[in-house]
Amino acid sequence: MVQPQARLPKALLLITTFMLAGTGCAGTPGTAAADGGNVVVACGATEEWCAAMTAAFTAATGTGAEFVRLSSGEALARIKAGREDPEFDVWHGGPADGYAAAAGDGLLEPYVSPDAAVIPDRYKDADGTWTGVYVGVLGFCGNTRILGEKHVPVPESWQSLLDPALRQNIGIAHPSTSGTAYTALWTQVTLHGGPADGVAGAMDYMKRLHPNVLQYSKSGAAPAQQVARGEVGVGIVFSHDCLATREQGFTDLQVTFPSEGTGYEVGGVALVKGAHNPVSARKYIDWALTPAAQEIGPEVRSYQAPTNPRARRSDKTADLATLRLVDYDSIAAGAHKQELIRRFDAEVAKAPKS
Ligand code: F6P
Repeated sequence: MVQPQARLPKALLLITTFMLAGTGCAGTPGTAAADGGNVVVACGATEEWCAAMTAAFTAATGTGAEFVRLSSGEALARIKAGREDPEFDVWHGGPADGYAAAAGDGLLEPYVSPDAAVIPDRYKDADGTWTGVYVGVLGFCGNTRILGEKHVPVPESWQSLLDPALRQNIGIAHPSTSGTAYTALWTQVTLHGGPADGVAGAMDYMKRLHPNVLQYSKSGAAPAQQVARGEVGVGIVFSHDCLATREQGFTDLQVTFPSEGTGYEVGGVALVKGAHNPVSARKYIDWALTPAAQEIGPEVRSYQAPTNPRARRSDKTADLATLRLVDYDSIAAGAHKQELIRRFDAEVAKAPKS
């Protein structure tokens, strides 16, 4: 769970390590003890997923693990802030474009895990800067009761979300914090022609969507909860987050996918540059790529597709082969992330809702 140590500056961590050494709980500081501690994970999926992953890693390897759940933009900001004295050893979960942005800033240490060999090339960075652990598809999460009351059909296209009857009835997160929302933004860039030609069209779409957005939440899955509570009729979320919310008893929820094409995420795992526990961190990354690790998700209602072809897939996982997906380039998405977020903030989020 949330670990006090992860927020301590290096000096205090060293004092803690010396004290533990005195009690026989750790080895010699600076040698084995420098990497004998828990692996500290910036974890980008659900709290339950993060807890299950870190517990299973410890059970499998005997190495302790702690995590902080952070949305993609928050994780990137915290890893950047800790550049001189990293707070985290590993980043696990959250869309790969965040990892690509971090790599561009020199915040990740390339590591080609032997366990990455079976992961298809399209789900990993060629240099080992990050490796994919799951794939999630963006969709719409509709509340059939709320939409029925408004006589609005469950949306089946990006265009239909612009219906004035949905004014203040859409939930989506803010792309500066949320990897889900950034996936939606980059999907629009892709649908409008790619980074060279499609940015203006994407911004225009988001501006037209803006009056229908009730609020931009921090975490990407939050709009599914808003939809479940009936605060809005539709959420733009990863489809597995809608399904997980539906399984909490909200049977009015229905997942649909846009006919124009939808985006998807490759959830990553990576070694943080300068990590205090690089040996444990590599061990964690190796483990995260195994079928055993990738079969844990469905046990905690996380139905992303595993990237390891040997991992069993849940029958609740969206079948990527049957969906119309855009050509989602995580590396390009990462390279344009900061610029697009700045523009979204200035041109869309702050605009009055006329
Ligand atoms: O809730 C799980 C999940 O949808 C992951 O599949 C995804 O990587 C992550 O959340 C994105 O979270 P956020 O949008 O808050 O960055």
